[in-house]
Amino acid sequence: MTQTKPQPKKLYIKTYGCQMNVYDSERMSEALGGTGYEEVSSPDEADMILLNTCHIREKAAEKVYSELGRFKGLKAENPNLKIGVAGCVAQAEGEEIMRRQPLVDLVVGPQAYHRLPEMEARLSNGAKVLDTDMPEEDKFEQLKARPKAKRGPTAFLTVQEGCDKFCAFCVVPYTRGAEASRPVARVLDEARDLVERGVREITLLGQNVNAYHGAGPDGEYSLARLIWALNEIDGLERIRFTTSHPNDMSDDLIEAHGQCEKLMPYLHLPVQSGSDRILKRMNRSHTRDSYLRLIERIRAARPDILISGDFIVGFPEESDQDFADTMDLIRQVGYGQAFSFKYSTRPGTPAAERKEQVPSDVADARLYELQALITQQQRARQDAMVGQTVGVLFEKPGRLPGQMVGKSDHLHAVHVSDCDAQPGDLRQVTIVDSGANSLSGVLI
Ligand code: SAH
Ligand code: SF4
Ligand code: F3S
Repeated sequence: MTQTKPQPKKLYIKTYGCQMNVYDSERMSEALGGTGYEEVSSPDEADMILLNTCHIREKAAEKVYSELGRFKGLKAENPNLKIGVAGCVAQAEGEEIMRRQPLVDLVVGPQAYHRLPEMEARLSNGAKVLDTDMPEEDKFEQLKARPKAKRGPTAFLTVQEGCDKFCAFCVVPYTRGAEASRPVARVLDEARDLVERGVREITLLGQNVNAYHGAGPDGEYSLARLIWALNEIDGLERIRFTTSHPNDMSDDLIEAHGQCEKLMPYLHLPVQSGSDRILKRMNRSHTRDSYLRLIERIRAARPDILISGDFIVGFPEESDQDFADTMDLIRQVGYGQAFSFKYSTRPGTPAAERKEQVPSDVADARLYELQALITQQQRARQDAMVGQTVGVLFEKPGRLPGQMVGKSDHLHAVHVSDCDAQPGDLRQVTIVDSGANSLSGVLI
């Protein structure tokens, strides 16, 4: 009698939020791969659905509940379907999710993903599982080695998790726990493994990635020291990192931006506001001036660096003058890229207690004005690339025949026609045109 291989079970993961969730979803998929699951792109055929959620802004939980409600029909068709909620809403809401939505079989917080295979076994026996512990053990060390499958030219690699900064508006310290760094050897092993599988560019991730302080073979490593160690890996062409906090921008990291060949000239350095009064109320523990001086020092080390940022408008008590100060800071810095948000009250954070909320229409108008300025700066920075020759790491074919698309050193999308480059090739490209959201260029 011939034995047939068991059919793989199908896993559908939907990812919300930041890049750390993207990385975590990959790792969850790999962990469940070991228990016979294969990832699929639609919930319709799935045996397990995981929503990897984000809690950063208002209505996050509501969106998750409405998404879950849509799976009712699928569960009726397939009673063996398992539905799980992971990520920051899972951590924040915990058991409440199962109470409110009985369709849910599994609630798993970000620090417990390494226990997924064992949870899956319990789910298969018909149990419901809740795990939002933040254990001492390091989930990354417990997660199995990544499978050897070939992958695309770019990858995320989480090196640091959690946050001890407690900005007054933010849920991350509560959903991701205290700052923790992965040991250097583990990061280097994972990076080498990714490179063997075809990766050419690695983006190091952390909620405060520049607060990295991992144990190394010869003492503690700062992020800069880790970057220098990664710089030695043959076949790795580019290194990036995100997200950084202004207070952790150490001298050695600034210097690395000037000297480390593989470290790309792009820095995401959120400031949130340009008003000292508001920065203080946000508990940001840096000032407008210290931020501006920092940008000057970074630009002195690497003049062409592209600065990116995050802004919140309408934080409680933000006056017209405070907002004008933010606009002024943006003009002084000149951002190549930025994300901006209307303040949303997050239950449990200190700012949620503040009475002096800014009226919604005022915040809307400020957001509109700020985004118009950022768009203008982004476009100016992109247009200024025309005529320059930059490195482009090609990722995939474009929409037109013979066209390839990649990212420049400064993270601009670049289209090249009649292009013989393959995904993973790093080539020099002269930029000839700047469109709404991307550049076009020719190979040299
Ligand atoms: N650790 C990173 C990113 C945190 S979340 C950092 O400190 O920069 C990403 C962004 O979401 C923040 O930079 C902030 O601009 C925004 N954000 C966080 N909480 C928010 C809230 N309650 N309302 C609006 N925007 C928020
Ligand atoms: Fe949130 Fe502030 Fe920590 Fe960033 S630094 S994750 S905004 S608390
Ligand atoms: Fe969101 Fe959690 Fe990331 S709240 S931004 S998914 S750390």
